[in-house]
Formats: sequence, structure tokens, C-alpha cells
Amino acid sequence: MSKLEHNDERIERLLSLGIRNRWYCICPSAMVQDTPVAMTRLGEKLVAWRDGTGKVNLVQDRCPHRAAPLSFGRIIEGRLTCRYHGVQVGGDGVVQAVPAFPDCNLVGQELVRSYPVIEHFQGIWAYFGDEAHPEPPPLEFPEELTSPEWTGFIVSNTWHCNFQYALDNVVDIMHPPYLHDDTYTLAYGDKSDMVEVDETDNGFAVRRKEDRESNVEVMQIMDTGCFFDRVGVFIPPGGGPGGVLRIIATAVPIDENRCQFNAWRMRKVAGWQGAMFRFMFNMMYEKMTWEVIEQDRDMLERMPPWPAEENLYQHDLGVAKFRNYMRHEAEAQVAALDEFHTGRQSVSLAGE
Ligand code: FES
Ligand SMILES: [Fe+2]
Repeated sequence: MSKLEHNDERIERLLSLGIRNRWYCICPSAMVQDTPVAMTRLGEKLVAWRDGTGKVNLVQDRCPHRAAPLSFGRIIEGRLTCRYHGVQVGGDGVVQAVPAFPDCNLVGQELVRSYPVIEHFQGIWAYFGDEAHPEPPPLEFPEELTSPEWTGFIVSNTWHCNFQYALDNVVDIMHPPYLHDDTYTLAYGDKSDMVEVDETDNGFAVRRKEDRESNVEVMQIMDTGCFFDRVGVFIPPGGGPGGVLRIIATAVPIDENRCQFNAWRMRKVAGWQGAMFRFMFNMMYEKMTWEVIEQDRDMLERMPPWPAEENLYQHDLGVAKFRNYMRHEAEAQVAALDEFHTGRQSVSLAGE
């Protein structure tokens, strides 16, 4: 295989299994309680658990002794303990103890890959760096997930489609009046329009050109160390205070054809109005937003395996822009890794 073909394969792999050097929301906080949780993210088998302080840890799901799945083990004094022979691993991937053989030379060695983790607003994020970028960049959250003026809830579901379908669905602003044509305000407004795209500080925003106030307020993609989508959905009069319903969505690849879709349904309400919204949410909005999200999932799971042959038109400006952005990122990562390895090689040759 030529170097060019080899690089194309590496680029396609990043595009289908996940661009590296980003934080991804791996699951909702509630998914990790007091037992080890197995999960596959970006094609890697992982295990998450909470230690004695409640902090979430994430490491490769592979025992350093004989490769048994650590997720089949238990938590003892905050350490992940293999079920097979009892080897104990800490959140930093270092073997903490081998109770069956206390003098074992594995103790003190970092033999399991560990991942930086952040827990914020009902979600757990992990950083997936490549060899050239082991240190995570800062992770910036959208205003809706940091300001006390906003309140809302996470929802999470496994979708049997590539993660890029899940992300670009949410910059595809002409799908709601069709796919959701029987679903609340997403059915409102003209069924024909043009779209426009504006650059933002950390990505771009897609809006409808003519009918700007009946269907969707905005669809926006943000690269803030994690890929976030923002969707503003108009609420009819009588829908309570707080203006639009904002969806902050993100998706993490499980493998080429599955992803975990995580999204927050947010309103700009605080105090008693926030409490009222949360009550109403449980009574009503939860079911309504779930119906919409299920329509998206149902459609995307019917799409062919990634990448599909397509003929894009004007309405796909957002999709095309996002695809170009991701390809550019993947190409840059492959080039940076090559440079990193070439640099290391010349250092070691010079050292010989
Ligand atoms: S395989 Fe895990 S302790 Fe032996
Ligand atoms: Fe949708």
C-alpha cells in the first residue's frame, strides 16, 4: 500500500471512529454508580467507576495481569479490582496492589491506559488524545450548561448510526418540517425556504433565510474542545416563561456504526420558574422531546453505513461545512502525528 493510500485510510478511520484530541461526553452521570461500567467509545473498550471520593475514573477495560475485562470486577477501597486473580488498579492506571502476591513487581507500574475525566451538569466527559497530544485542551461548555439562568435535563440513547450522522442532523435545518411534520412546533412554518450560514467564534450557525420565527430558531455547531450542537426550538404562546427550548446535543462514537447521543433540554428560567419548568418537564416536556428525538433516531438508523453517496443541495450548507471541517481536522491530525513520529525518530537516530 502506498503512503498516500495508507494516509487516506487513517483519515477515514478518524472520520468514522472519532477525531482525536477532543473531549467527548461518554455518558450521563447517572450511568456510573457504585459498580464498574463497561463501555466502548471511539472503538476502545473502557471501564468507568467511582472511587471512594465519588470521582469518576476511566481506564482501558483490560487487566494488566492476563487481560481479563476489569469491568467484570468489583470496587474495593475505591480501586478497580479484577475478578480473576484480584489485581487492583487505580484511576491513574497504576497497579495499586496484588493481594495474592504482595511483592509482585507489577505494583507501582502504570500498566493500564487511563483517560482524563470531567463531570459537569449531569454528564461525564473523557479526553481522547493521540500520542502527540496526551494533555487535554480546556473544555468549554455552552452557556446553557454553565449559567445559573438556565435549567434542564440530560437525555442519552444509543443510536445505531455513525456519530457524524447524529451531529450533522442537528445542523440540517430543513429536516424538521418534513421529518417532524406531525410533531409540535417543529411542524410549523413554510415547508420551503433557503438556508444561510454564519461563522461564529467556535463554529457556525445555520438559520432559515425567510421563515425565521416559526420553526427552528437556530442550529449551531461548536468546537469548544468537544463537538456541541445547539438547536433553538420555538415554544408556542402558553408554553411558559423562558423563551425557546434549547437543545445542546453531542454524540460520541461507539464504533463506526453506533454512537451514544447525549442531549440537554434547556430553558432560560431560574428560581421558582425553574422549579416549575422542571416539574412541567417531568409531566410533559420529557415525553414530547423524547418523541422528537426518537423520530431522528429512527431516520438515522435507516441511513446506509457511513459514508453514504450523496447529492447535496443548498439546504445542506451546514452539513457540507461540518463535513469539510471534520475532514480538515482529520488530515491535520494525521500530518501532526507523522511529524511527531519523524521528530522522535531523528532524536533517537541522533542519540545513537
Ligand atoms: S487477569 Fe486480572 S488478576 Fe489475573
Ligand atoms: Fe430532528
